[in-house]
Amino acid sequence: MKIIVGNWKMNGNLGEKESMLSALQSIKTNHKVILCVPFPLIYGDGFGTNIGAQDVSNHENGAFTGDVSAQMLVDAGVKYVIVGHSERRLYHNETNEIVREKATIAIKHGITPIICIGETMEEKNAGHTISVIKQMLMESIPDNGEYIIAYEPRWAIGSGLTPTNNEIVTAVKTIFDTLPQPMPILYGGSINQSNAHDIASIPYIDGLLIGGASLKSETFIPIINSVD
Ligand code: PGA
Repeated sequence: MKIIVGNWKMNGNLGEKESMLSALQSIKTNHKVILCVPFPLIYGDGFGTNIGAQDVSNHENGAFTGDVSAQMLVDAGVKYVIVGHSERRLYHNETNEIVREKATIAIKHGITPIICIGETMEEKNAGHTISVIKQMLMESIPDNGEYIIAYEPRWAIGSGLTPTNNEIVTAVKTIFDTLPQPMPILYGGSINQSNAHDIASIPYIDGLLIGGASLKSETFIPIINSVD
């Protein structure tokens, strides 16, 4: 059983969510499928698919216009939330500390955070991948509770580029060895139908986080079906 997370980012609408859920319902899979949709699309029956969010506030409630609290996500039926996605870190200046607060508050409310970490191309070219990953990991994970780590090299997101299998296994083994206790580790970044099976089979990989290819059932379902 692998964990397969679709991240719709700021895409999709209610009709598209409904047709994705019915397409997902029509296949048989042992994998845990989680579809992380924009906030307005969260509410409603997932028909066997776990519906997740893409962000959560690091505050309980209050004067934080535009933000959504962990309790609100719970009320809407959410069990998983992506935190620290590189687009949040980049466009909303989210630091490891904020990511850690978001993961902590999610856990407090019974939501499993999917904590994203990954190096930039500059960091990779400078040979800093491993040290960057370790530091991001240690500063972003909460003290207690269960969470999922998503290793997403920033340069691999939406670019069509992926690390070599060796680079992935080195990064993911580093994460495995650095975690205080074992937690599921996903790979994300330019996953498609042709590379999903191989990447999901890499040691220490417990699943995949998929952006662009999760938007349409024609691309998402073959990925789910290709993973052992
Ligand atoms: P991608 O996005 O699959 O489109 O590269 C992955 C992600 O951002 O989570």
